[in-house]
Amino acid sequence: MASVISVENLQKSYGSVVAVEDVSFSVEAGEIFGILGPNGAGKTTTVECLQGLREANGGTLRVFDLDPQTQTDTLRRRIGSQLQDSALPGRMKVEEALRLFAAFAHNPVDPDELIARWRLEAQRDQAFDSLSGGQRQRLFIALAFVNAPELVFLDELTQGLDPQARRATWELIREIREQGTTVVLVTHFMDEAEYLCDRLAVVDGGRVIALDSPQGLINSLELPVVVRFSTEAEDLSWLEELEVVDQLSRREAAVEIQGTGPVLALVAAELVAHGIVPADLRADRPTVEDAFLALTGQTIRG
Ligand SMILES: Nc1ncnc2c1ncn2[C@@H]1O[C@H](COP(=O)(O)OP(=O)(O)OP(=O)(O)O)[C@@H](O)[C@H]1O
Ligand SMILES: [Mg+2]
Repeated sequence: MASVISVENLQKSYGSVVAVEDVSFSVEAGEIFGILGPNGAGKTTTVECLQGLREANGGTLRVFDLDPQTQTDTLRRRIGSQLQDSALPGRMKVEEALRLFAAFAHNPVDPDELIARWRLEAQRDQAFDSLSGGQRQRLFIALAFVNAPELVFLDELTQGLDPQARRATWELIREIREQGTTVVLVTHFMDEAEYLCDRLAVVDGGRVIALDSPQGLINSLELPVVVRFSTEAEDLSWLEELEVVDQLSRREAAVEIQGTGPVLALVAAELVAHGIVPADLRADRPTVEDAFLALTGQTIRG
């Protein structure tokens, strides 16, 4: 089956600023594809080029076999878009905005359905200006679905949403995918990427530096497993002799071990053999966040 999106060697500069140096990836039908990366990495620029909102300086872009640069109108009928940092006229009401966008949509969804789905009932007659950050965000998500898109671009989907709204949004995105929509999701939330995305592209400095499933990304880096427990025992040097233990540190009773492979089982067996049975023994497996930090470093980008 043909890819819904294929990007090869995308390049985009703003004057002397190189926003996207060389980005390639493809997105298959029905996927939730995540794009992660530090601030300024080129994520928004990439998805804007794919939607025909910005002109690329180089590379080959295909979305549904269309060229987003020249077949923008045809493309826009089939895609939905939630842009980062959008705005609407301040006095426009929620329902008005949805009706207006629906009026221009090729395949409009009933605004009442969107209001119910994205929980905007109480804000229906409220002006855009008076909406809270999270309510605006929900409105922009609803607007992204007003034309029943086959492919939707969500740039920072759940920014500013409270935990309940975030969870509810994740479930709705999964539902939307079940109904056949392909989703491209730009996010800074590693838990969101891990929960929702089938595959992730990590973009840094305008390049794709890793592309894999969330678990594949984690596995590829051989990140340490961290085992934690508490004990009053003074001498634990025998634990450091285990081959799977790379590092042991402690702060009073709290012990932290970095290791690899079956470190939890082997540490547990050794502890029990020494008559120590900590009730709080646990292992924290590496997460997408650990993988992201290992790939992109710990320093803040300008
Ligand atoms: N209109 C513009 N004019 C000049 N430079 C721009 C413009 N838009 C973006 N840039 C620059 O291009 C680079 C990539 O920006 P982009 O918005 O694509 O990053 P991003 O990965 O989406 O970052 P964030 O996580 O902060 O949203 C940045 O260095 C940014 O300053
Ligand atoms: Mg961005």
